[in-house]
Amino acid sequence: MMKDDAYSFAVLTMSDKGARGEREDTSGGYLRERLIEEGYVLHFYEIIPDQKHVIIEKLKMLADEQRVSLIVTTGGTGVSPSDVTPEAMLEILDKEIPGMAEAMRSASLLKTSRAMLSRGKAGIRGESLIINFPGSLKAVRENLEVVLSVIPHALEKIRGGTSDCGVV
Ligand code: MTE
Repeated sequence: MMKDDAYSFAVLTMSDKGARGEREDTSGGYLRERLIEEGYVLHFYEIIPDQKHVIIEKLKMLADEQRVSLIVTTGGTGVSPSDVTPEAMLEILDKEIPGMAEAMRSASLLKTSRAMLSRGKAGIRGESLIINFPGSLKAVRENLEVVLSVIPHALEKIRGGTSDCGVV
């Protein structure tokens, strides 16, 4: 990816403990480093508590006001009472991209059967692509590699790009 047409990205880590400064955010750190390595430009990073209204507010701010191209989240996708990331997504997405979430879950099932417990979503709000990853560093590593190669094509199409969809 060329520097001048680089896409911006934001990382949101959902963690009550992390937001209180009681846990190091290795998953958010990994997302930052790996996406910068891929040529994306870091625009925003924050650790926020697992609260639906806070997640909704941040996602709207990043998509509508900051117009960040790619928003990735980590955590809060599971089945604990505090896991509400997918519920926040349902309220703010214009369109879901179920295939991205399905691809991550099916690839992850080859690594751990617990992958079926992640309810993470992917979708579009405005011109922003938003992707949820589970919370652990291992899960983030494994899931990001599944979607990484598709993200540039998705971002181009979200902006109305007319490039050929021929499979590469
Ligand atoms: N996916 C992959 N690839 N690797 C993993 O280790 N962990 C799972 C799952 N997805 C995992 C994974 C576990 S143990 C849980 S509970 C769910 O993601 C939800 O995680 P979250 O609540 O931290 O978002």
